[in-house]
Amino acid sequence: MRFFAVAAKGTEGALRDELKEIGLKGVRADRGGVHFEGALSDGFRACYESRIAVRIQTPLASFEAPSAEALYEGVRSVDWSRWLTEQHTLAVRAFCRSSVLTHTQFIAQRTKDAIVDQLRERCGFRPSVNLGDPDVRVFVHLVHNKATVYLDLSGDPLYQRGYRVAGVEAPLKETLAAAVLRLSGWDRSSPLVDPMCGSGTFVLEAALWAARVPAGVLRPRFGFERWACHGDAERRAIADLRQEARERKPPPAPFLLGSDLDGHAIKIARESAARAGVRASWFCRPLSELRPLRQPGWLVTNPPYGQRLALQPELVVEFGSVARTLHRSRVVVLAAGEEWARVFPFRPEQVWTLHNGDLVCRLSCTVIRL
Ligand SMILES: C[S@@+](CC[C@H](N)C(=O)[O-])C[C@H]1O[C@@H](n2cnc3c(N)ncnc32)[C@H](O)[C@@H]1O
Repeated sequence: MRFFAVAAKGTEGALRDELKEIGLKGVRADRGGVHFEGALSDGFRACYESRIAVRIQTPLASFEAPSAEALYEGVRSVDWSRWLTEQHTLAVRAFCRSSVLTHTQFIAQRTKDAIVDQLRERCGFRPSVNLGDPDVRVFVHLVHNKATVYLDLSGDPLYQRGYRVAGVEAPLKETLAAAVLRLSGWDRSSPLVDPMCGSGTFVLEAALWAARVPAGVLRPRFGFERWACHGDAERRAIADLRQEARERKPPPAPFLLGSDLDGHAIKIARESAARAGVRASWFCRPLSELRPLRQPGWLVTNPPYGQRLALQPELVVEFGSVARTLHRSRVVVLAAGEEWARVFPFRPEQVWTLHNGDLVCRLSCTVIRL
């Protein structure tokens, strides 16, 4: 089977490296994600293990669709009874670019019609649509009049790990945090601190990654577990994955610290850490009180940057002073706009452009040398 792991723009390279490390085959980065191949159980494994993929999908059919009729017939060429019974619900989403059909809602509607009509004619039932919490999610990608119909394996997006306690403004997506950690070159054993940690996403993802805990360990279920064809063999495959992960011996935990001047955010970070079953030090204190690290490590942070949370110029100056106390450490900053880059007094060694939802961000990694 072929699969496509969807990634936030700019994180495709990090996801490619991760999927190779997981042991998947035919791994190839592309725009917006990474292709790989394998058995259905490899698709399950990607859902369960990948920290960076937002979704895992498998293409069911690919065909020319220069018209609504061609799209309808192409979708009807798939045998949908494998995935849906009368009890199953369905949702279709679409994306299109440079094609005759330009309206994503229309494309999704015609795709849904083709699926429902086929099942009614062949099997005598009509599956219902549930846009909020469907059993089966279908995604149509239409580019240059070529349609690819994907079936989603993930269900809810994979950044919904199951440990996050709600209640903080502007939390980072877990999948993006995991990509930043990998791009930063963190070795999973050196100290790692986030002095503006908010709900603690970097520290929590670092703790889980260092402990070799699969990203999906707390998810009650994935999308594929709701398919009509999910039977005993598939249940055994996912049970085996869970068992194998439980038997992994975690290496010694690194020193991890999250601090923030917002006491409520720290409370939430602590509660999330308890849910995730990981250990870290959490403090409610301002950036200026960050102590120098005992050994060189990584400072990874996502400061307020003027979009969702206001950026104060004095904070950037203060951040520069803190960085000066971190000789031989790496300072990794994910921020939107050029302001941080302009004021930060060290030249970064590497810079990436990453998309945080609609926000284009700059990720910089600087080794502090005084
Ligand atoms: C964009 S949010 C970080 C979000 C975080 N990465 C998460 O996943 O929840 C920026 C954080 O910086 C904190 N902050 C702003 N000024 C600070 C300061 N002087 N000292 C410590 N934290 C500060 C805010 O309280 C906020 O939680």
